[in-house]
Amino acid sequence: MKTEFGLVGLGVMGKSLSRNLAQKGFSLSLFNRHVRNLEEDVAVKFINMFDELSNCKGYDRIHEFVLSLEKPRKIFLMIKAGEAIDQQLEELSTFLDSGDIIIDGGNSHYRDTLQRIEMLATRGIRFIGAGISGGESGALKGPSIMPGGDSDGYDQVKKYLEAIAAKDKNGESCCTYIGPQGSGHFVKMVHNGIEYAEMQLIAEVYSILRYGMGINPGQIANEFSSWGKTALNSYLLEITIQILKKKEKEDWLVDKILDKAVNKGTGSWTSIAAAELGVPIPTLTAALHARFLSFFKDERLAAHKLFNSNSSNQDAVINISTDHVKHAYQLARIINHHQGFHLLETASREYGWELKLPQIARIWTNGCIIRSELMETLSRILPENPHVLLHHKIQQAFTKGEKLNETVSTAIQADIHIPCLSSASNYLTGYTTAESSANIIQAQRDYFGAHTYKRIDDPEGKPHHTEW
Ligand code: 6PG
Repeated sequence: MKTEFGLVGLGVMGKSLSRNLAQKGFSLSLFNRHVRNLEEDVAVKFINMFDELSNCKGYDRIHEFVLSLEKPRKIFLMIKAGEAIDQQLEELSTFLDSGDIIIDGGNSHYRDTLQRIEMLATRGIRFIGAGISGGESGALKGPSIMPGGDSDGYDQVKKYLEAIAAKDKNGESCCTYIGPQGSGHFVKMVHNGIEYAEMQLIAEVYSILRYGMGINPGQIANEFSSWGKTALNSYLLEITIQILKKKEKEDWLVDKILDKAVNKGTGSWTSIAAAELGVPIPTLTAALHARFLSFFKDERLAAHKLFNSNSSNQDAVINISTDHVKHAYQLARIINHHQGFHLLETASREYGWELKLPQIARIWTNGCIIRSELMETLSRILPENPHVLLHHKIQQAFTKGEKLNETVSTAIQADIHIPCLSSASNYLTGYTTAESSANIIQAQRDYFGAHTYKRIDDPEGKPHHTEW
């Protein structure tokens, strides 16, 4: 008896996805590499641990694994992004036949995915780059899945992916075909860029409440809980409430955690992709750079002493209401999402992907890390206008950014580091400025390099040059 679906790589995500697939009644073959004295019989041992896996078969020899699958073979790769994928593909593809389908469920770079699609297509093998979000528990209980690549291939694996994905509030699967090429992984990458900024915004709001207003973590958790009962609710806010409540004896656990944030690269890729496409995403990039800056702890400590900065001062130093901060946070989140969707919209146009932004927002309403009440709203309003900030429903809620600007200026005066909030505030000012200072930039370019400029009194838009 052959099995209907195969999965390669039994790390944390691979294990959870296997259990999720098995719970939906699919027969599976599981493969994990054999590393002597380190990873031996992983698949067989894993199968013996859970009742739902009793119909699964475990392998650590790749050809036996491939032979156990019915044709066309459908294989989920859940291994580390990068070279490991190419090595695994090389090993696997010797045993595969034309028509077989491989799904890469890792955080691969979208350009690598495109190369793999093209390379495997020469042998008739169909490749799908599927972004998967939701972490370990999402993978088990229902992640958000963003598959892109070969659309015929997707039709063959759709029933498996849509079955294991989370469900939106209408019971539809949080998995939909994203588009051709590496678009699935591109969309997951932008998800992560938004995720970085969502996390950083919460961290900055925490800084204001804690160090600016002298509120302790337990009280901040209570404040956040009340925010969570409003349109501000999100998964990341929910987990932060739990994090802030956590104590070790008398101490808050957050106070014991070293303040050096790391990353695995998807946030940087988002900023690079935006720069290549000329899309302004300063709020997402500010979150990434905040992580980079946090990492220079020794230098920060030296500079702190040198400049006698107020930062990390535990006393209340500013006078602002939590309600003000809440509104600032709310608007900054909208700006973050506006920038993320702007990047998706531009990439879609530039690369001819025909991304359906409302569908992307819909599959992000559950299962993924950035699921939120705001995402529900976006899934409803994006069909009318892809530019979030231009939407009348958003404008109704925020005609002016005063509270954001006030919160930002108050926090900056108190030496509280708020790069994401301040970038959001600056972005909004720039976005709503009719006459910007870019005329000076154009004049400077023309002055030193005769790069020419366009004139507002020349409706034909011809290039002009001045002998300055
Ligand atoms: C998700 C996450 C996940 C990502 C982690 C860590 O959607 O489930 O985005 O894919 O790997 O969040 O990312 P960093 O190490 O870059 O923070």
